[in-house]
Amino acid sequence: MFSFSTPDVWDKIKNIEKSCEEALKLTSPWTVPLEPARDVPILHPKQHPPKKGFSTPEGQARMLHDLASIELQAMELGVRTLTEFPEAPDGFREELMAVTISEAEHLRMCLEGIESLGFKWGDWPVHLALWRAVGPEDSLLDRILIVHRYLEGSGLDAGDTLIRRLEGTAGKETIQKIVKQINFEEIGHVDFGSRWYREICKTDKRDPGVDFPERMDSLRQRLPKRIEPLNKGLRLKAGFTEAEIQYFENLRQDFLKPR
Ligand SMILES: [Fe+2]
Ligand SMILES: [Fe+2]
Repeated sequence: MFSFSTPDVWDKIKNIEKSCEEALKLTSPWTVPLEPARDVPILHPKQHPPKKGFSTPEGQARMLHDLASIELQAMELGVRTLTEFPEAPDGFREELMAVTISEAEHLRMCLEGIESLGFKWGDWPVHLALWRAVGPEDSLLDRILIVHRYLEGSGLDAGDTLIRRLEGTAGKETIQKIVKQINFEEIGHVDFGSRWYREICKTDKRDPGVDFPERMDSLRQRLPKRIEPLNKGLRLKAGFTEAEIQYFENLRQDFLKPR
């Protein structure tokens, strides 16, 4: 059984390697469930309870819970891509397995952090915004762009803001360590997406400079809105070009416009 079909979060982590290995063996695409199984309530982010400040253990645990929900979806999206794209290059699939296992490790760190603060998984609801941003109709280039370059790319900006916000918070050492390690490793995940995006464009004889804005234009309607200021330094490290960063900046400005 693949990890997105198991409800228990700890079972998902325990079985991640086996799940990826099974997915790597597939020779034809697997039909994934409409939604991944959860052992906690799923609610739209707008219906989640208000957040407390980071000065309280509750506020810190809640932040880690929100992050855990993201890491969980990132992990499941990794397995999903492996099951839906058995024809993808072997090198891509092997690297994606490593990224997916790294997401499971991020999830484990968040869950242990929540418990060390005296709370537990399920104390707050979760959302499926990342899982819902992809679809069975995606091409491999769409999927790489959505998951590893758009969603994980904006995660770098948000992670860096969070690290800076935590700097002035007392009793923050546990979460600070977790968030810093995750954000550092996420640079590698986004870079994986940047490298393979260009590699697959090359195989398909597409110019990435033309493909990127066209593909983003066709996908942007279904992407969750990200309005965090862009961290150019991190994005350059993660393989974005100046033109791609400018595209995201323009998109962000559009998202910020009142409707
Ligand atoms: Fe992660
Ligand atoms: Fe990641």
